[in-house]
Amino acid sequence: MRCLVTGAAGFIGSHLCEQLLDMGHEVVGLDAFIPYYPREIKENNLASLKLRKNFSFQELDLREDDLASVTENISVVFHLAAMAGLVLSWKNFNLYSSCNLLATQRLLDSLRKSESLKKFIYVSTSSVYGKFSSGNELMPTKPSSPYGVTKLASENLCHAFREEFGLPLSVLRYFSVYGPRQRPDMGYNIFINSMLKGETITVFGDGQQSRGNTYVSDCVDATIAAIQSPDGETYNIGGGEIASVWEIINRLEKITGCKARIKQEQARAGDQRSTGADIAKAVKDFGWNPKVSLDEGLTRQVAWQKSMQIRKAA
Ligand SMILES: NC(=O)c1ccc[n+]([C@@H]2O[C@H](COP(=O)([O-])OP(=O)(O)OC[C@H]3O[C@@H](n4cnc5c(N)ncnc54)[C@H](O)[C@@H]3O)[C@@H](O)[C@H]2O)c1
Repeated sequence: MRCLVTGAAGFIGSHLCEQLLDMGHEVVGLDAFIPYYPREIKENNLASLKLRKNFSFQELDLREDDLASVTENISVVFHLAAMAGLVLSWKNFNLYSSCNLLATQRLLDSLRKSESLKKFIYVSTSSVYGKFSSGNELMPTKPSSPYGVTKLASENLCHAFREEFGLPLSVLRYFSVYGPRQRPDMGYNIFINSMLKGETITVFGDGQQSRGNTYVSDCVDATIAAIQSPDGETYNIGGGEIASVWEIINRLEKITGCKARIKQEQARAGDQRSTGADIAKAVKDFGWNPKVSLDEGLTRQVAWQKSMQIRKAA
């Protein structure tokens, strides 16, 4: 298959490209290096990919660049490019609405008449459900942040393109993905770095908020398996082991051998209280099941962050 991965330089997109190449597919990666976090980190994510023979990379911005060259002769599109994270979405709505909604519209439009396209996977988020996101795909969608609103709008746009122009697409809603290369603004990355450096961790709210953690290779496996899903469907993708912030900090203390120094601040606007994916539909429709336990996944992320600190210090 010839696949297009948008957001290929990002956390999950770079892992997805690697797995597709390992399976023998040809991959076109696209990314605009939006400076939400440093370009250097994204270049690192791409470094080993750029050496592989079936991989090509295009630095393009989905919001404004001509997309004809990257969508030509593509069989499967994995659309991961987005502005992720909820905190900044309150401050820079334009960036979120353009990178999430306008970018998706331009990509869908460029594929409208494609004769090669077999599947378009739109990657969405548990944030479309809002503060309480534990359950199956029938939960009401009530996003509590501009981020969630723009992702839900893009899901709806995808469905409109499918209904009007027959685009073969499915939507995946990821639940809190973690593992090596996790974005530097995400909680576990911050916790681990702070613990390793003996710095103080800020816990927002009462720390009882919980997440349905998904290890990145499980998330990637689900994304590829979803090529087999029936068109027009939406799936929750979550790892199954739910943990509160305090539980994660306890586990990380054991794994790192470092005691966490903690201060507490007010809960952040729009933060989800609980997330936990019921994945029965994904299991039934494309036979996916998560494999990596939370302790194993956290151990791998800690090892990766330690290795990055050593590289930086050298
Ligand atoms: N990480 C998670 O826990 C999580 C949870 C739920 C959903 N998601 C979704 O998964 C996807 C990937 O998330 P991630 O954590 O890997 O984020 P990331 O920020 O590491 O990767 C996203 C990439 O998209 C690129 N991008 C953004 N706007 C673009 C544009 N206009 N044109 C081209 N490239 C653009 C960015 O430069 C970035 O490299 C996103 O769609 C996100 O909403 C992530």
